[in-house]
Amino acid sequence: METIFSGIQPSGTITLGNYIGALKQFTELQDDYNCYFCIVDQHAITVPQDRLQLRKNIKSLAALYLAVGIDPEKATLFIQSEVPAHAQAGWMLQCVAYIGELERMTQFKDKSTGKEAVSAGLLTYPPLMAADILLYGTNLVPVGEDQKQHLELTRDLAERFNKKYNDIFTVPEVRIPKVGARVMSLQDPLRKMSKSDPNSKAFITLLDEPKQIIKKIKSAVTDSEGIVTFDKENKPGISNLLSIYSILENKTAAELEQQYEGKGYGDFKSDLAEVVVRHLEPVQKRYYELIESDELDRILDAGAEKANYTANKMLKKMEKAMGLGRKR
Ligand code: AQP
Repeated sequence: METIFSGIQPSGTITLGNYIGALKQFTELQDDYNCYFCIVDQHAITVPQDRLQLRKNIKSLAALYLAVGIDPEKATLFIQSEVPAHAQAGWMLQCVAYIGELERMTQFKDKSTGKEAVSAGLLTYPPLMAADILLYGTNLVPVGEDQKQHLELTRDLAERFNKKYNDIFTVPEVRIPKVGARVMSLQDPLRKMSKSDPNSKAFITLLDEPKQIIKKIKSAVTDSEGIVTFDKENKPGISNLLSIYSILENKTAAELEQQYEGKGYGDFKSDLAEVVVRHLEPVQKRYYELIESDELDRILDAGAEKANYTANKMLKKMEKAMGLGRKR
C-alpha cells in the first residue's frame, strides 16, 4: 500500500475551506492508502498563539478529524509535537534548504507583510513541513491549492538530499482536488478562506451553529447582478458559493445554474445555508460525543506510538546519511 501524509494546523477551528480542500479528500482516501494524519501544532506557533486556546484547539481538531469520518483503525492520527523526530528532521532539512527559496514562499510573504516582528519559524516552517512528509516515506500528499508551493519545495529538498547525501527519500506527489481546492473568504472572495481570519464572518467553521451559518451565508459578498451563474473572474463571490454547494451536494455548477434559473441570490443563499447546516449536523453531534470521552486520548496515544516508530527509523537513516552522532 502506498503512503499518504497530510497535516492541519490547530490555529483555530477548521473551516469549510479546510474540510473541502483537505479533510474530505482524507476520508475518501483512507481505504486505499496507509494514512498518517497529523495535527501540526509546531507549525501553529510560527505565529502568536494563546497557550490555553492552542491546547484546546489541538484536542478539538483531533475530535473533528474523527467526527468527519477518519477511522483510527485505518489511519494513524497523531500530534506533531508528540513525535520529536519531526523537529529533528526539520532542523536537518533547514540545513539543506536555501534562505532565498524560503523567502520566495508566498505564504511567508502573505503572513509577514506589514508585520513589525516576524518569527524565524515563519520563514523556516516549510522544511519542517517537508520533514513531516518525508519521514513516513510518503507517496502522496492531499492538500488544498495554497500548499502547492510548499509541496514543490518538499520535492526539491528530497531530491537535493537524495543527491547530496544518500538516496533515502521517496519524492512525494501532490493531490489537489479538482473542485474546491481554494475555497474563498465569504467577505472578500479574492482571498482564500482562512481559519485565522480576524473577521469571523469570512469563514464558516465546522462547529458553527445553524443560526451563525445562515447569517454568514446571507451576508456573503456577491455582486449586484442577481443571476446565479459560475464565472470565477467576473463573479467571484457567487462562484465561490456555487463551488461550496456543488461539492457538498455532488452537483455540477451547470446543474445548479439550471436549478436557480430565474431565482435570485436570496433563494440560492437560503438553500445553501440549509445544505451546509444539514452536512455539519452529524459531524457536530459526533464531535460533542468525542470531545467529552477518553477515547480521543487513547486514539492519540496509539497514533503517537505508531508515528514515533516509523519516523524514528527514517530519522536514523537521515542522521547516518549526514554523518551525525556516532556509529553504533
Ligand atoms: N480556503 C481553502 N480552500 C481549500 N483548502 C484549504 N486549506 C486551507 N485553506 C483552504 C487546506 O487545508 C489544509 C490545512 O491547512 P493548514 O491548517 O495547515 O494551514 P493553511 O493552509 O494556512 O490553512 P488556514 O485555514 O488558512 O490556516 P491559517 O489561517 O492558520 O493560516 C491544507 O491542506 C490546506 O491546503
